[in-house]
Amino acid sequence: MPNPVRRFYDRLARDYHLIYADWNAAIESQSRAIDRIVRREVGAPPLALLDCACGIGTQAIGLALRGYRVHATDLSGPALKRARREARSRGAQLTFAHADLGDLGRSVSSTFDVVICCDNSLAHMMTARDLARAARSVRARLKPGGLFLASIRDYDRIVREHPTFTPQALSDVPGNLRLSFQYWKWHRDGRTYDQHLFVVRGRGERWTIRHYGGLSHALLRGELGEHLRRGGLAKIRWLMPARTGYHQPIVIARSPAR
Ligand SMILES: C[S@@+](CC[C@H](N)C(=O)[O-])C[C@H]1O[C@@H](n2cnc3c(N)ncnc32)[C@H](O)[C@@H]1O
Repeated sequence: MPNPVRRFYDRLARDYHLIYADWNAAIESQSRAIDRIVRREVGAPPLALLDCACGIGTQAIGLALRGYRVHATDLSGPALKRARREARSRGAQLTFAHADLGDLGRSVSSTFDVVICCDNSLAHMMTARDLARAARSVRARLKPGGLFLASIRDYDRIVREHPTFTPQALSDVPGNLRLSFQYWKWHRDGRTYDQHLFVVRGRGERWTIRHYGGLSHALLRGELGEHLRRGGLAKIRWLMPARTGYHQPIVIARSPAR
């Protein structure tokens, strides 16, 4: 059966960097914020780190360049292929594999000091069952006392406002304007929305527009925390952007020490 999440990211892989005004700056700043948390919670690299939703590599590449031993996995083949290429062109050493984050043990056998899942990847877990599977799957890939770190949009605020338009990024490189934004169509449950991502680029009178359609679940912090706890993770804490400098709320949790 075709997987709509995979289809969305397979198609988006070529344009994913355009959701940032400057993707290289995002690689740098996001890995810096994550590195600071990991150093405080676990220690300094080299540590074994699994990015279980690496996409085109925004966090994985930056963390590999900071000295982590990164294994990066994702559901999308085209995103992995692009991540591999981007890593090579930046001289980042990391390994890649295809894996569903709900069933990591199927293709990832080792365990890690740190597992990360950043930039709203968990919002594609549409049901409580998906989230429970993901929490158990991540927990099984952590060493005793290991750290799980994930970021999601601030859905606690978003569900109060139900925005329909989210400006994403604008970059005005000479002679080529690039603009990305999303239109969200909320379902009647108030918690699920169709995601319409538009990428517009061009100059003068020549413009192109590409559309990518997906589906997301507005996952509340309390709900995610409860799924992580039920999945066997402990010491669950939320770190907000004002403190971390990261663009989304971050949850951290630990696997029990032996
Ligand atoms: C918003 S992107 C973030 C990617 C990456 N962390 C970044 O910031 O560049 C979400 C990613 O989650 C991946 N994903 C969604 N569901 C997944 C699943 N069940 N298993 C593994 N990856 C998944 C998608 O393929 C996509 O690459």
